[in-house]
Amino acid sequence: MNIAIFTSGGDCSGMNPAIKTFVEECYMRDITPYLIYDGLEGLIDDSIKKAEHSDVSRIIYRGGTVLRSSRSKRFFEKEYRVQAYENLKRKDIKKLIVLGGDGSFRALDTFYNDFGIDFIGIPSTIDNDIYGTDYCLGVDTALNVIRRAIDEIRDTAASFKRAFVIETMGRDCGYLALVSALTCGAEVCIIPELEFDLQTLGERLKKEVQEGRNYAIAITAEGSNMSEKIEAWFETEIGLESRISKLGHIQRGGNPTVFDRLIASEFVINALDRLSQTANNHHAIVYTNGSFDFTDIDTVSSGTYTIKPQLLKMGQALCR
Ligand code: F6P
Repeated sequence: MNIAIFTSGGDCSGMNPAIKTFVEECYMRDITPYLIYDGLEGLIDDSIKKAEHSDVSRIIYRGGTVLRSSRSKRFFEKEYRVQAYENLKRKDIKKLIVLGGDGSFRALDTFYNDFGIDFIGIPSTIDNDIYGTDYCLGVDTALNVIRRAIDEIRDTAASFKRAFVIETMGRDCGYLALVSALTCGAEVCIIPELEFDLQTLGERLKKEVQEGRNYAIAITAEGSNMSEKIEAWFETEIGLESRISKLGHIQRGGNPTVFDRLIASEFVINALDRLSQTANNHHAIVYTNGSFDFTDIDTVSSGTYTIKPQLLKMGQALCR
């Protein structure tokens, strides 16, 4: 049996450990592993090769993806999907594993409907915004990158009596910002999922400043579009000199944490079990309540991820 793996959409830490586990597990199971480079673009352009152990040596600790990634527009056109299918047919590859987000899963679902190529999608994005799974690969590493940045910014904030507005990524999802705020001792957290009240927040902070607080940390999610407003609010309402620090793409990089390395392997092993034991797979593997399961792509695409209520409840204390 031949199975190929590729990475698609935004990269994240944990992809390399997943690729390594894939190749090693395939060899142990007498499956021939193939690597597709450059995501869906490489599938179209036949950047596909049989994997060797040397392709995955010394990659377990590296961020990003050695297979590289892309966001493909061509794959939406049938003629390019036909080209992609011909590439797989020549190599007798009938099953795929894709590491990516729901956009990549939907693209492969179309491919499955066109040509019956089985696939399992492994949710991989720092945004943690895929419906049906509690966890997406890469999130723990991103949270730790953010945690380190906040710890370091706090040093200068406290030394200079400043307020810092630290903006995290996450697209429309506030998960990264909320968990970072809760675990790094931020005074304020603004995310799209929670209503905020600057009046009550301001009263609390002003009192704290009068009592001796000489710095403050606010975490804003990029999807809230509030970083500049909160910076101005600190200056005019709270009376603290303020700066914005948008963490940007550093959040997507970094050596994968132990958690991401382990769960990457577990995602891959479960996906391989499913692909080798059953047919008609066009599913995503999901991780809910501590165990793995499989969900069809229509379900994954039809819902909107919501942060669990307990975390949102804890976050309320930081936005009003
Ligand atoms: O989806 C991952 C992500 O890093 C988002 O958090 C962010 O909004 C976006 O990708 C940035 O995309 P790009 O790398 O294309 O600028």
